[in-house]
Order: sequence, then structure tokens, then C-alpha cells
Amino acid sequence: MDIAATQARHTMQCWSAQAGYSPIAVSKTEGCWIHTKDGRKIFDLRSAHECINLGFNHPKILAAMRAQMDKVLYVTDDFATEPTAQLSQRLAELTPGSPNKKVYFSQSGAAAVEGAIKAARLYQYNRVFQDGGTVDAPSQYPYPYKIISRYNSWHGSSSGAASASGDPRRWFQEPLTVPGVVLAPDANPYRPHFESVEQHFNYLNHIIEQEGGRNKVAAFLLEPIVGSNGIIVPPDGYLEGIRALCDQWDLLLIVDETMTGMGRTGKFLAIEHWDVEPDIIIMGKALGAYCPLAATILSEKVSKSFDHHLFGHGQSYSGHALGCAAALASLEVLHEDGLITQSASLGAQLGEQLRTLGQKHRCVGNVRGMGLFWTMELVANPSTKEPLRKATEKYEETIVKQVSDFLFRERQVYVPSDKFGLWIVPPLIVNEEEIEFLLDAIEDALALADSFLST
Ligand SMILES: Cc1ncc(COP(=O)(O)O)c(C=O)c1O
Repeated sequence: MDIAATQARHTMQCWSAQAGYSPIAVSKTEGCWIHTKDGRKIFDLRSAHECINLGFNHPKILAAMRAQMDKVLYVTDDFATEPTAQLSQRLAELTPGSPNKKVYFSQSGAAAVEGAIKAARLYQYNRVFQDGGTVDAPSQYPYPYKIISRYNSWHGSSSGAASASGDPRRWFQEPLTVPGVVLAPDANPYRPHFESVEQHFNYLNHIIEQEGGRNKVAAFLLEPIVGSNGIIVPPDGYLEGIRALCDQWDLLLIVDETMTGMGRTGKFLAIEHWDVEPDIIIMGKALGAYCPLAATILSEKVSKSFDHHLFGHGQSYSGHALGCAAALASLEVLHEDGLITQSASLGAQLGEQLRTLGQKHRCVGNVRGMGLFWTMELVANPSTKEPLRKATEKYEETIVKQVSDFLFRERQVYVPSDKFGLWIVPPLIVNEEEIEFLLDAIEDALALADSFLST
């Protein structure tokens, strides 16, 4: 069977016109590498949509999955299984704040975001109408339900999550975006919208006030370090300021760690780089290693709201024992093999090397990241910062796309081609020799981008 042709004929490729779909047949995967049937060996520099933080075939995770398969794979949550119980406890303990948290399990980042939005709204409903809370203007219908999210964010492709995303992929949902979302400006030190962080906060405060404050707004949703929209590390004091703003207005802070969790940025969660305790944490992607698993982690404050009021949400396969066993094994590997520390130290070294490289190429506007989560934003001109891929050009033939295609075709390095620059997100098990190989390929790609720019 020609599996590539069959897959192309009968499978829908994500975010693509289908006529051009030409998947490459894979014979096996190994560590950070994909071996193809036509004899190529390709480094996956996007860690398979950031899911494969521990490499493709980690023996400890495979062993844990095999062992679990002999016991129980899935039962409903009227029953308890060892991995589901242990994983929820581990996540409650490992994440910031009181360990008296509760976890709602789903199978994708988007589903975990939907769970978080629903939980935040129900929490606010309970607070106002059931638990003796107050609003400033009680006659105003209904309860606090609005979610403040930000431009240049991505939270998933289901209706609610896409509507809460400030990314061009939201446009496919229009005009039928789900109501109840307000988009606020993002915080990008390379492309600031305000002259100071204070001005930024004054404007956010204004938005919350104008949207009805604690009467109408339920939560602030953000990625602590923006992922898909450019690996943007926020300026100092920003996340602490958002926490303070949420406290001032009784909003919940929802932190989406789908891409940044599981050691990616050099800490278990990206939010741990700052002294901020979220009310709800979303995890997904690498959490389940090789199984689709996501988690909506409710702080003690939020979960208590559902002790005697209904959590009106759910789905089949929640708490899937096989996925939870894989996730538990991933947590063990992350900590026992020192991969979070390695992400921090190797990442700091990689960051320095990328900055040095960036200085040699005029197409590089900005080099940024943390841990093993880096990007080089490509620009037509470093002084004007004119981007080589504009927001409206996500699916166009840009120079960024050509350079990414070059890396894939000529240098056996697989990177996404729809970003604002080069995406440098290797599995956390990457070694120094592989980093040398990657830097070499990136240097050639940057030289190619330079050659496209007018002198
Ligand atoms: C921050 C963030 N949240 C949510 C999602 C959606 O996750 P999924 O594709 O598993 O639904 C993504 C996917 O890229 C993401 O980066």
C-alpha cells in the first residue's frame, strides 16, 4: 500500500487546502528524529506540535503504557484507577498554590480551554447567586461571564477556544464567533503598544471597567509565554500586574500552559518564572506524551465552588487510564532524568548561540525565548521592524515559508512554516551534537533569507 497516497486521498490535513496535501511516509521514529520510507532522517524541530518533549520513543513511557494496558485502559469516572488518581494528585502538588486542587481531564488543549472557560463562568455564577457574593450593580443581568483574552494568542480550534483566540485562525470562525469574549492588547517587548507597562495596565483597567467590571467579567485568559503567535516572553512585572488586576476586579486568572508546560521553558510551568498563582491552569500536548491528554487544573478556591453546586461539564474518555499512565511516566522522566534543569541550562546556551547568530544576519529582527522554546523573528529591515510575515499572511508564500521549506528539503530539519520567523523548539532530550547540527542548518537558512532582501 502506498500509505502516503492513501492518507492524502482520505485524510483531511489541518489548516490546508487539500489538493496540495502530500504527507511523507514514515518508517520509524527515534529520539528527536523521523525516519522516512524513502531513506531520509529528519530532525523534528517543532517536537511534533510541541507534544513530543521527551523524544518519540522514550522507553520508560512505553514500558509504563504497556504495563497499564494489561490492567485497565478506560472506565468512567464512577470508578477509580491508579494512574488517574495519582496523576491528579501529582498535578495538584506540582502546580503553584495549595495542593487542594482538582483536575478535569480531557483530550486536547482546546477541550481543556473550554473546560476552563465553563468552570470560570460557573464559578462566578455560584459566587454571585449561590454563595452570597456581590456585584456592584446587582440589577444588571446576567452574572459575570465575559472572558478577557488577548490579540496574538491561540487557545485552540473548537468554537469557544477559537473565539477566545487573537490569531488569524479565529477569522475562520467569523461571523459566528462565540459571544462573551473581549480581546485586549498583547504584551510584546519587541513590538510594544504602549510607552510603559503602567500605560498598558491603565488601558487594561479601562477595558475591564468599560466591560462591566466584576458585574460582567469572569476571567482573564492568557498564555504566560505566547506560543504560536511568536514565543513572546512578557516584560518584567507584567504577569504580576495581571494577577493584581484580577484580584482588584474579582476576576479569575486562567493560564494556558498547553504549549509551555512540561519543562518546555526551563521550569515545569512557564508561570513559575514569575511569582504568580493562577486560579485555573490548562495543560495539554506534552502532558500525555504519546496519548492525547489535557488537564484543566482548578485551584482550591475554584474547585470548592463546585463542592455543592453542579460542575456542568463533561465528556467521554475523561481521565483515560492509559493517557494518565503515560503522563505520570512523563512526569517521572522529566524530574528523574533532570530534563527541566537541562531545558534551562541547554536552553540558556542555545539562546546565546542564537543571539550571536542573529547579530550576523540582517533578516533577524529579534531573538527571544526561554528554556528550549526559542524563535528568531525575521524582518525586512531591523530598523523599521517590517515583518517578513504579516498577520494576514499566515497561509501565504512568504520568505519565512521559503526559508522553512529550505530547512526541511535541503537540511533535514522540520519546522513550521507559518510563524513569524524560525521556530526553534527541539525535544528536551536534544543533545549538544544535535544542537550543533541545528545551528549549522539555521545559519544557512538565515543566509538564504538575507539573500532575498533588497540591498
Ligand atoms: C496555548 C495553546 N492552547 C491551546 C491549544 C490547543 O491545543 P489542541 O491543538 O491540543 O487543541 C494550543 C495549540 O497549539 C496552544 O498552543
